[in-house]
Amino acid sequence: MKIEKLVVGVIGLGMGAHHLKGAINYGAEIGMICDINPETLNKVGEETGVPAERRTTNYLDIVNNKEINAVLIATPDQQHREQVEACLEAGKHIMCEKPLALTREDLEAMVAAVNAHPECKFMIGQICRFTPAFIKAKEYIDAGAVGELYFVESEYAHDYQHMFDHDPKNWRSDPIRNGVVGGGCHAVDLLRWLVGADPYEVYGMGTHKLLSAVTYDDANVALLKFPGNVMGKVFVSTGCKRNYTMRTCIYGTKGTLIFDNTSPTMQVFLTDAEGNGGHEAEEVEVQVNNHNANAEFKAFADCLVNDTEIETPIIEGAKTVEACLAIIESSKTGKIVNPNYNF
Ligand SMILES: NC(=O)c1ccc[n+]([C@@H]2O[C@H](COP(=O)([O-])OP(=O)(O)OC[C@H]3O[C@@H](n4cnc5c(N)ncnc54)[C@H](O)[C@@H]3O)[C@@H](O)[C@H]2O)c1
Repeated sequence: MKIEKLVVGVIGLGMGAHHLKGAINYGAEIGMICDINPETLNKVGEETGVPAERRTTNYLDIVNNKEINAVLIATPDQQHREQVEACLEAGKHIMCEKPLALTREDLEAMVAAVNAHPECKFMIGQICRFTPAFIKAKEYIDAGAVGELYFVESEYAHDYQHMFDHDPKNWRSDPIRNGVVGGGCHAVDLLRWLVGADPYEVYGMGTHKLLSAVTYDDANVALLKFPGNVMGKVFVSTGCKRNYTMRTCIYGTKGTLIFDNTSPTMQVFLTDAEGNGGHEAEEVEVQVNNHNANAEFKAFADCLVNDTEIETPIIEGAKTVEACLAIIESSKTGKIVNPNYNF
């Protein structure tokens, strides 16, 4: 059913503040915003002009608000399941931050809950699918410009140390929140999207040398096998000493693409019509917009307003996390793991 008037609630105002601005820029009405930290709540409320009577520290006020028809969930990963289930019970449409969940049990429960509520649209917020450089790469691949893919690699290299300096008990230190799922899901999802297929076999390894605040590996490498003899590799480091990057290389029979989320250019190597050359890079300019919350919210809202299919439904979030869980299992056991995409 088409929605005449979007009335949005936002739960969690870290990344959620970006989503809130995306909703405001789109022209949605803001029904209520929520953060358990009153200081954060009021700061974001003041910044964005959301009046005091539309601010709450209890997310159930959003769930129980009959005017609100769409909820953006941007709380710590551990809380996604509970809040998604509550919103579904109340008949809300939902956009939920990645990663969908942190355990297989929660993934299965959330997929089942969404399937049980076909009246509610659900979008998993895989924001990399809205990053200009990544969209450009997808256009080259889908147009056949790089030919048949044979090797794809991506990484999530992002130093979390400052978060633990600020708060050693930051929710990211929970042992259940391994960096491969938490941040690595961006790189895994990006490859799944660019290749257009799911890795059916993964082999991972990990090490722990950087973050004393966590008990899990803070660096992992994984090899992935995709259908069609496409080899893949993912590197995840949540303690690396460098700027945040998701450097990605796509190798195809007609060319190669090298790009990331924080550089204003991508390198494009393409052979000519006879299949010659391809050794000199064309530097193609791309907009740097690592958290393109405006485009992400627009994709969600357009589907509600026009009653069209969500491009990243829950199964996309579930498959991405499942592949990440398989990497963690392989890193622990030293064995090759086949992700189970049956939800
Ligand atoms: N798309 C991306 O690139 C991206 C980037 C960062 C984080 N994330 C995801 O976004 C989510 C939030 O991460 P973050 O970086 O904003 O974390 P954060 O810790 O910076 O912010 C989370 C906010 O949620 C609030 N909160 C916690 N429990 C709450 C509750 N029950 N009700 C209301 N508010 C609550 C906290 O007070 C805090 O202000 C996580 O799922 C994370 O994985 C996504």
